[in-house]
Amino acid sequence: MTLLFYSKVDDPDDWRAALQAIDPGLEVRIWPAVGDPAEIETALVWRPETGMLAGLPNLTLIQSLGAGIDHLLRATGLPAGVPMARLVEPALTSQMVEYVVLAALHHHRRIEAYRDFQARAEWHLLPPADTEATRIGVMGVGVIGAKVAHALRGFGFQVAGWSRTPSALDGIESFHGADGLAPFLARSDIVACLLPLTPETEGILDKDAFAALPSDAYVINAARGGHLNEEDLVAALDSGHLSGAWLDVCREEPLPATSALWHHPKVILTPHIAGVVLPRTSSAQVIENIALVRASRPPLNLVDPARGY
Ligand SMILES: NC(=O)c1ccc[n+]([C@@H]2O[C@H](COP(=O)([O-])OP(=O)(O)OC[C@H]3O[C@@H](n4cnc5c(N)ncnc54)[C@H](OP(=O)(O)O)[C@@H]3O)[C@@H](O)[C@H]2O)c1
Repeated sequence: MTLLFYSKVDDPDDWRAALQAIDPGLEVRIWPAVGDPAEIETALVWRPETGMLAGLPNLTLIQSLGAGIDHLLRATGLPAGVPMARLVEPALTSQMVEYVVLAALHHHRRIEAYRDFQARAEWHLLPPADTEATRIGVMGVGVIGAKVAHALRGFGFQVAGWSRTPSALDGIESFHGADGLAPFLARSDIVACLLPLTPETEGILDKDAFAALPSDAYVINAARGGHLNEEDLVAALDSGHLSGAWLDVCREEPLPATSALWHHPKVILTPHIAGVVLPRTSSAQVIENIALVRASRPPLNLVDPARGY
């Protein structure tokens, strides 16, 4: 059994060690050392390059090295008909919950303003944050978004979710579909994007969405850079309509040195680290999927390419 590994951001040796700790018989080849292409049955990849998987005649599973599969669906030259699976992993989900809660609370408790006061050695009190009066909107209430919504609700925020189909999450107001977007945004003082990147969601955080948000709203994007129109964001921040933004992802990664986002006083940026897949916690799922496919069964977290997530 041979697996081909490719990622520019994950350590191949860590992955090889973690996979082989579970299945010592698994041969792990690191791109570009493919060897005989006919021997590769599984591709474990993050952002494969064009044509990378095209010449693997016996490929039976394409396993994403992340929760999203937009990087696979956009890769040209993918072999047709090979099942694609994404990672759905409690440790990854917990990291995402931590990240979005951190961003929301950081804004809600006005830590940026207090840092400025500290820099000026000023002991200055702002009006207290009113949690129960603060409305948070979570875009995408799937595996990650639902946990984020519940965590925020646990603090006492008014939380709503927006999804493609209606959701029924305890204590979380549900909005769905194109018609539900504007009313959902209109009631969101803080909006957090946890959508998959698909043709329907690309560029969804644009000037129209920002105009639909209440004045002083705060935007958190921990999903994909493609969701956000960065120029529209900067314009909405500069006009004073939005109070700030916290971004983990950018349209182009790494973010170009010329981007206005780097030094914008209302933007907090991190380099796509909200949720990082760990070999220690995710390898078992990869090994299980290899076994399922070998037994002619669908892998866990099989992706529907037509739906795009
Ligand atoms: N920054 C990071 O480090 C990081 C780490 C992990 C994941 N992510 C991102 O987080 C995303 C979400 O992950 P997940 O596991 O929670 O995904 P998921 O379980 O597939 O959930 C996706 C959610 O988005 C909704 N949705 C999809 N298309 C929509 C549309 N056109 N309009 C409205 N709602 C739509 C779905 O609606 P339905 O419920 O109706 O299907 C569902 O609620 C991933 O795709 C990835 O891009 C980022």
